[in-house]
Amino acid sequence: MQLKSYLLPFLTLASTLTATPIASPEKATLQSRSADGCFEITQFRNSGSPHSISATVAFELVDRSKNLAASCRAILSILPTIVTAEFPTYCNDSSVAFGFQYKPPFPGYWLSIAHIYNNNNTVDAGSVWAGRDVRRYDNPSGNPNGDFDYLNYPAEFSVAYNRHVQELPISTLAAVAPKPTA
Ligand SMILES: *[C@@H]1O[C@H](CO)[C@@H](O)[C@H](O)[C@H]1NC(C)=O
Ligand SMILES: *[C@@H]1O[C@H](CO)[C@@H](O)[C@H](O)[C@H]1NC(C)=O
Repeated sequence: MQLKSYLLPFLTLASTLTATPIASPEKATLQSRSADGCFEITQFRNSGSPHSISATVAFELVDRSKNLAASCRAILSILPTIVTAEFPTYCNDSSVAFGFQYKPPFPGYWLSIAHIYNNNNTVDAGSVWAGRDVRRYDNPSGNPNGDFDYLNYPAEFSVAYNRHVQELPISTLAAVAPKPTA
């Protein structure tokens, strides 16, 4: 699928942040025993927009232990209205990237997040299952054009990460790392 070409991960904050009435009130706290820390996520949403074929996955990310704040989003100008984004889709801070993927036959969406720093030698990475509870918002105007689909998932949650520190042997420190394929 050529979804990638429709993604605009570098949109500025001033872009179309259409408020949707869909944020779930509950908070999910997701932790794993081996976690080194966590990304705190707020304002998460993945939904279409009324009277538009544009759909957005977006969230704000904070890691207090790293004094890190990033704003992440991908916009798809095509149906279906739940957005998937290949990993790595970069956030406004390019040391942070995410993916939002659906890989059938395994059911449901996955949010994966990575923060790379320390000369690209340390990666904090984690992922959560975002389920598959896709619902339809019925616009009260009665105009079916205003209806859109959204993923029913909490707006606030945390993503525990594990940290890997790569310690390269001296002899390879100067070597040019292979470029990742696009
Ligand atoms: C990215 O967005 C966050 C949250 O709005 C902001 O605090 C941060 O300064 C931004 N970073 C860059 C590099 O623009
Ligand atoms: C980290 O990797 C990115 C992507 O390859 C590159 O643009 C950047 O210069 C690297 N940073 C360091 C400090 O090596």
